Amino acid sequence: MLIHSASQLLTLAGGPQRGHALGTLGIIENGAVIVRDEKIIAVGTTDELRNAYPDEPTLDAGHSVLMPGFVDPHTHVIWAGDRANEFEMKMGGMAYLDILAAGGGIISTVKATRTASLETLIAQTRPRLLKMFAHGTTTAEAKTGYGLQTSTELRLLKALLALDDESPLDLAITFLGAHAIAPEYKDNPQGYTDEVVNTMLPMLKEWWETHAPRLNLPFVDVFCETKAFDLEQSRQILTRAGSLGFPLKIHADEFDNLGGAALAAELGAASADHLVRTSDADIAALGKSDTVAVALPCTPFGLAEKDYTPAKKLIAADAMLALATDCNPGTSWNESMQIAIALACRYMKLTPAQAIAASTINSAHAIRRSDTIGSIEVGKQADMLILSVPDYRQVGYRYGTNLVKQVIKRGRVYSVDVGYYRTA
Ligand code: NIG
Ligand code: FE
Repeated sequence: MLIHSASQLLTLAGGPQRGHALGTLGIIENGAVIVRDEKIIAVGTTDELRNAYPDEPTLDAGHSVLMPGFVDPHTHVIWAGDRANEFEMKMGGMAYLDILAAGGGIISTVKATRTASLETLIAQTRPRLLKMFAHGTTTAEAKTGYGLQTSTELRLLKALLALDDESPLDLAITFLGAHAIAPEYKDNPQGYTDEVVNTMLPMLKEWWETHAPRLNLPFVDVFCETKAFDLEQSRQILTRAGSLGFPLKIHADEFDNLGGAALAAELGAASADHLVRTSDADIAALGKSDTVAVALPCTPFGLAEKDYTPAKKLIAADAMLALATDCNPGTSWNESMQIAIALACRYMKLTPAQAIAASTINSAHAIRRSDTIGSIEVGKQADMLILSVPDYRQVGYRYGTNLVKQVIKRGRVYSVDVGYYRTA
């Protein structure tokens, strides 16, 4: 298939973008792509590729932007129930971590999730994944973490594997058994840490090798935060996970600076995420590492907080910056990377080009898939978007409605635009 007549083809070619290189879109005007068997086999101008492939079936990009699919590298998309009541409490003035300490927050979703069957979990999560896909996310990371006990965590993994199988959206699965202190260990956080380290992680490895033998091992993540896991407990969990062969991630500095980002850099984690209160020393450590700094601007927005990830400092320190939705029922129920981009432009002062790079090639690197997705280059998976706008700067500028007209996933074309009026 020849996809042709893109006003701007954003290739994002050349690999993950560090520091001030962020925002290199690699634009080809009047661009075109040849797709065969799920893969991109040629990239160029419409004239070049029409001449080189005269007999190819065609898809007209209609003088709109053609770009890589969004990669959302941080979501908690699988859960049961909702927390609309807590949103009301938070807007009434109660703090997120105080609601958590009072047995609400993550723990209230844990209660709903523990009692949900596999079928219920799949049925409640499926529409969220469909919304992500319709808004242009072609690959998403998805964390467990609302079980906090072996049986439920395994049910969440099973549901995610089933959803990955049935849906056109690809999932990169993460085990977040260390998302909060399990209610059974309320006054004994070290006890729950030991349970994760000594029981859950080895069991996870065995389970994965039996149930998903063809897939790489999942990521292991930990919520390194006051009232969750302290730095030493986070180190224990990630060190054990690393020695079992799991790739690593961390939630760091969402509310307090505990040193989680430097720990991630030291342990060679794929990413450190949130990074709102990150110290200059931790930022410097990220800048010298291959650990991607994932900012989640929907989260402070969702919590109505004023501080966002210091993107300018991370860029100045030569870090690799990525964006994600953090889609979850407590702090950010949003499926759209376009909203994350709109917020990142306004509150983190990214340009649209920087935010697009942070949502494609860099976010692909945050889940260690930048060799196969995140850019439009020969040999990569054909995961692309045709937008309904002719200029990439419309992304971020406009928000709240969907700018994606068609999603191309592994070479298959899905129309998602609700349509627009045409004059005769
Ligand atoms: O990334 N910080 C921990 N996890 C989520 C919130 C989860 C929840 O409140 O249910 C986050 O913001
Ligand atoms: Fe999170």
